[in-house]
Amino acid sequence: MELSKLEAMLEGRESQPGQLIEVLQDMQATFHYLPEEGLRTVAERLGVPPIEVFRVANFYKAFTLVPRGRHLLTVCMGTACHVRGAPRLLGATRGQLEISPGETTEDGAFTLERVNCLGCCAIGPTVVLDNVYHARMTPDKMRTLIQAVRKQDEEKVNA
Ligand code: FES
Repeated sequence: MELSKLEAMLEGRESQPGQLIEVLQDMQATFHYLPEEGLRTVAERLGVPPIEVFRVANFYKAFTLVPRGRHLLTVCMGTACHVRGAPRLLGATRGQLEISPGETTEDGAFTLERVNCLGCCAIGPTVVLDNVYHARMTPDKMRTLIQAVRKQDEEKVNA
């Protein structure tokens, strides 16, 4: 964790407990997780008891205490998606990324998660990649999607 980035997030928010969730959102977006040392600093600087900071960090699904990849890929395994082929889709995705749900690829590019419903059952199997919904997914479409993201990442590095 780069301390200077955390310092920048806390600027103008000192002793403002009401800023807790916004600061945690900024930390999650910047570091892709909430480092323990960062949470302790946030508690001290905002004037929030550490136990409350850790409670909030654990309560919201958007926050994670372990590092996530640069891209979060969520596969729905709810009943509607299940009957439309989600198990085959998840299996193919696991094979392509070489990780299981809850894990992150070695290069830190992707974290794979599974959920039980994304609330759009009619368009399943559904996946969400970096907050963008993809409908009627197939293993082939997933392969293309992952390849496109990898290519975009490479282009950013080489730019
Ligand atoms: S079961 Fe997949 S979106 Fe509802």
